Amino acid sequence: MDNPFALVPYVSKELFCDREVETKTLMEYLLNGSNVTLISPRRYGKTGLIYHVFDEISHQKINVNTCLVDIYATETLEDFIKVFSEAIIAALEKKKAVKSFFQFLSGLRPMLSYNTLTGNPELTMTYLSDRDKQQTLAAIFDFIEKQDKKTIVAIDEFQQIRNYDINMEALLRSHIQPLKNVQFIFCGSKKHLMAEMFTDARSPFYESTRCFYLEKIDREVYADFIIRMFEKGKKSITTEALDFILDWTKIHTFYTQSLCNHVFLKSGRNIGKEDVLQSAAQILKENEQTFLQWRDLLTSNQWNYLKAVAKEQVVTQPYASKFLQKYNIGTSANSQRLLEALIDKELILANSTLEGVSYSVYNVFLSRWLENQ
Ligand SMILES: Nc1ncnc2c1ncn2[C@@H]1O[C@H](COP(=O)(O)OP(=O)(O)OP(=O)(O)O)[C@@H](O)[C@H]1O
Ligand SMILES: [Mg+2]
Repeated sequence: MDNPFALVPYVSKELFCDREVETKTLMEYLLNGSNVTLISPRRYGKTGLIYHVFDEISHQKINVNTCLVDIYATETLEDFIKVFSEAIIAALEKKKAVKSFFQFLSGLRPMLSYNTLTGNPELTMTYLSDRDKQQTLAAIFDFIEKQDKKTIVAIDEFQQIRNYDINMEALLRSHIQPLKNVQFIFCGSKKHLMAEMFTDARSPFYESTRCFYLEKIDREVYADFIIRMFEKGKKSITTEALDFILDWTKIHTFYTQSLCNHVFLKSGRNIGKEDVLQSAAQILKENEQTFLQWRDLLTSNQWNYLKAVAKEQVVTQPYASKFLQKYNIGTSANSQRLLEALIDKELILANSTLEGVSYSVYNVFLSRWLENQ
């Protein structure tokens, strides 16, 4: 059978672990007319959750269109229009409304082709001027607004609009605000940036959405899911092995799925801790070259700092002399500088809780590898 531990954001309801409360809440927000900001650290499962919500909407035959736009690789209005249009075409395909969409864009002589590998639509447009682009953007929003049913548009990697060459935030806001027939999910992982965009009174999107912070999956629920997935493949796993998986991957979804996927692939019918240890070691080995490349991109002080955080697992007092001395970090100002640089590079994750901020190595596999250095 196929490996039941998916390594892509979403395959099907059956292979998707939990997120029941989250799905219900998001659907309630969206269907009651709120826009939503969805925030979590990388690889927790935001994109998967959006697909799951969309899938649920379709299963329940709720009369809305859904559309997901990933703007990760965009940095200009032109890029945005392209990925947005492609996402709309992909969403419309089933509904054979692509033609009417093209009529909206006809002035730009759009050319549509399909990627031979992925089958995804790819659009090329010719612009004459900046005004063309502005008008096209307006036309696209106008098109969605005029659909006979409501559309939910998820903009994934939303923080990227801060890197545009124009004030995309303000531009988008001006288009989005008057829409009555379109609902938005703004999704991102840079918590600080995302929070700033939606809670800072000076930002265009201030107080325009409901913020939703996605947490890790509950340990017990994930454990049940893992047992069930192994059973699907006629395999059983000991409690000890299961606990090891959850501890070692810190229940960070992508890493938990990856380890389970590997164990499923390599093991026989009865899985014990030995099998899991072997898979874990192999995964680290497979990633070693990437880790070494990262090392080459950092100063030796930064690298040592990262190693220190890995060895501690979680650091809550990065300026305490105990931590500074144990790892030869120097002054607290040094610690602050290194910490900020590594957070900026997304190598360290700052997690704010009621008790304060805790720091850990963002990539769980890198963290486990560094611990043993
Ligand atoms: N509920 C789930 N059940 C099973 N696997 C999941 C679930 N959620 C996420 N995953 C796994 O975790 C991986 C990361 O999920 P996803 O890409 O949705 O995270 P993300 O929060 O959008 O990350 P990023 O911020 O990097 O875009 C997926 O590829 C998938 O393997
Ligand atoms: Mg994502």
